[in-house]
Amino acid sequence: MRYLIARNEKYDFIGQSYASQYPNIHKYPATMIPQIGIELLKETKIKKGRLLDPYCGSGSSFTAGLESGLVEMDGFDINPLAVLISRSKFSSYDIEKIDEEKQNLKNNVYDFIKSENNLNKILIPQYKNINYWFSKPVLQNLAVIKFFIDKIDEKIRAFFLVPLSETTRECSYTRNNEFKLYRIKSEEVLQFNPDVFGVFFNKLKKVIEIYKTYYLPKIKDIKVSVQYGEFINSPKKYDVVLTSPPYGDSCTTVAYGQFSIFGNRCLGFENARQIDNMLMGGRTVQQIYQNSIITEYIDEISLQSQKRALKVSSYYFDLAKSIKNVASSVKKRGIVFYIIGNRRVKDIQLPTDQFIAEQFEENNFNHLFTYERLLSNKSMPLRNSPSNKMGQTKGTMTKEYIVAMRKK
Ligand SMILES: C[S@@+](CC[C@H](N)C(=O)[O-])C[C@H]1O[C@@H](n2cnc3c(N)ncnc32)[C@H](O)[C@@H]1O
Repeated sequence: MRYLIARNEKYDFIGQSYASQYPNIHKYPATMIPQIGIELLKETKIKKGRLLDPYCGSGSSFTAGLESGLVEMDGFDINPLAVLISRSKFSSYDIEKIDEEKQNLKNNVYDFIKSENNLNKILIPQYKNINYWFSKPVLQNLAVIKFFIDKIDEKIRAFFLVPLSETTRECSYTRNNEFKLYRIKSEEVLQFNPDVFGVFFNKLKKVIEIYKTYYLPKIKDIKVSVQYGEFINSPKKYDVVLTSPPYGDSCTTVAYGQFSIFGNRCLGFENARQIDNMLMGGRTVQQIYQNSIITEYIDEISLQSQKRALKVSSYYFDLAKSIKNVASSVKKRGIVFYIIGNRRVKDIQLPTDQFIAEQFEENNFNHLFTYERLLSNKSMPLRNSPSNKMGQTKGTMTKEYIVAMRKK
């Protein structure tokens, strides 16, 4: 181990969850609890400056930033649903207008469905396997809601897509407690008859309440800009980077794309099925990652499976490229915090924390510290099948690492 790791209990936040202080407005996989970021910024006395999160997901680093007094923050994510959630939480909407549109939407929808004929006039979107995941009445009802959301003023329309996305997932035949798409059993399909409008309007009410109580009062004077896509580089320079990147490629770790597929379709995103391949590590490479701390571990994997070793390499190629871009956008003496788990592949634990420190060091940074924390509250699968054989499971990540580096 080249970069020392210190166990730091302060960052365990045992018994605390995201919701205990900053409820989210939409479920999202592998969220980082904002308390980690808040404590890190406090410990390193960062109270001002510009923050970047190149993998912002649902935006917990922005919550940490605003609690710590930062007023300018930029985020990037390749998953459109993540962009929607983050933007919705950190945009300053006219709340009276939202309340008014909520009421109009309710009136419009319930008036419209009084006549059955109306339902048949609504166009149902078509895509592959749609009937495998939804019943016809559910599709019709979702389409009615979408039809009326599309009539809402553009400035606030996106906000209404947040509860629609969750409603779509919840009213599909997907097992709701999984991130990947698995269909409920056939006998459950027959019984499944959700009240789509009830679910949607309850969620809308909740999303508005959370936004009003936890986000709106704090974002009046701050500027959070969230962009769809990969962070390449930027003319702006950042004082601090706070991020939790994916722990591996989406297909074999957390399937952000699969989780978000219905939401992304609500957003009209054509490539919803392709997202997992577009995320970090999703492409195929032809060579093992060389000349790095990580190489000997990947070589060991290649003894068991060359294919897996190449897949793993693909993730590290992408991570290294991204770190180079991030590093060049940080100001002198700026600090980066990467919160990461060291995943296991073919029973070999990959020291991604060490890799991150190594890459930043190669890009003109010094190692400040790496803390080990217990992963008791991250919403992600804690067991997997590293050999990809049914029934063989191993604990994946019960620890997480906080890697802090400072630019020279
Ligand atoms: C661990 S999650 C971040 C969670 C976030 N901290 C939160 O609390 O919601 C990692 C995120 O990285 C995104 N991602 C993966 N590859 C990416 C890439 N190449 N560029 C930008 N975002 C990417 C995923 O879509 C996912 O939202």
